[in-house]
Amino acid sequence: MNSIINDIEIIKSETTKINDVDFNNLAFGSVFSDHMLECNYKDEKWEAPKVVPYQSISLDPSAKIFHYGQSVFEGMKAYKDANEDVYLFRPLDNFKRLNISAKRLAMPELPENYFMDGLKALLEVDKDWIPKQDGSSLYIRPFIFASGSGFHASPANEYKFLICTAPSGSYFSGKVKVLIEQTYSRSANGGVGYAKAGGNYAGQFYPTQLAVEKGYQQVIWTDDTSHEYIEEAGAMNIFVRINDTLITAPTSDRILDGITRKSIVELAKAEGINVEVRKLSVHEVVDAAKNGTLKEMFGAGTAAVISPISGFGYKDEDFELPELEDTFASFLKKRITDIQTNKVEDPFGWRYKV
Ligand code: PLP
Ligand code: COI
Repeated sequence: MNSIINDIEIIKSETTKINDVDFNNLAFGSVFSDHMLECNYKDEKWEAPKVVPYQSISLDPSAKIFHYGQSVFEGMKAYKDANEDVYLFRPLDNFKRLNISAKRLAMPELPENYFMDGLKALLEVDKDWIPKQDGSSLYIRPFIFASGSGFHASPANEYKFLICTAPSGSYFSGKVKVLIEQTYSRSANGGVGYAKAGGNYAGQFYPTQLAVEKGYQQVIWTDDTSHEYIEEAGAMNIFVRINDTLITAPTSDRILDGITRKSIVELAKAEGINVEVRKLSVHEVVDAAKNGTLKEMFGAGTAAVISPISGFGYKDEDFELPELEDTFASFLKKRITDIQTNKVEDPFGWRYKV
């Protein structure tokens, strides 16, 4: 990869908001660091990225993002170890997935050095914003959207690639109860489910609101044809433990190929846990809940890390998960976060020193 780090212009903010932030009480993604990366696509090419003060952006009201939703994003985290060295987790996988998403939405793909060097330049300027507190990190949101204008329903000719960052704590504030969805669908065969497209999230908001009204925090999506197979949740992939076997659904064009998910599969196997990547029916989970073999369910994602699920709703019934002492969720969460924060060796080569 050809480095462009020396071509990245850096315009520093004259003020800082960092002293207003309580790093011991961070919510998720609600305060933003002082700078952002900005890169424009025009005349069929990406212009050099710049680090600029975090600020509003101005767009034409006919920009295609507003009308046709051409928008894709990523979610990553930067961690600081005890020596204040900065690490990312499998960042090239986020870069590749951003381009997979962009391609599906007919948007221009980004060169690898724009993504990686842009991110490094931004993290260097805002390194004081990376929390040191256990359980906190700097959440990184790279995104591309159509800034080009016109009401014609066709791809825009101008785009923006931005990276904004937010020092963040946990995504969920309490216990996570999920509803296994039987009416609405997140995605369909041949659709955009595998892309991290903004519209995939907008489409989930209404069914999730209905679930929240009934006391659940997330929806577990099932396949769109039979609603019989568990796919993933709103913001994370799903793992189910039946007896001592950990099961997760295979990825498909309906499911986001989560980086945490695939890391957990590899990590659990390396730790001697029996892992099955296979179709998992709702009936199997309900039967296991009824006969006591359902031991755990948890979500896995960058924002969610590993979030244990305390219970689930299916049709008109509610099922509680047992409260075990030693869970796969807590064991795997410690293993993965220790690797991410450079507390232990990383035999997989996932950690990336910035
Ligand atoms: N599924 C969905 C719908 C998500 O939004 C996310 C979060 O990024 C995930 C799964 C988990 O993916 P990753 O582990 O790459 O963050
Ligand atoms: C992430 O985990 O990074 C995501 O993008 C999920 C998002 C809904 C917060």
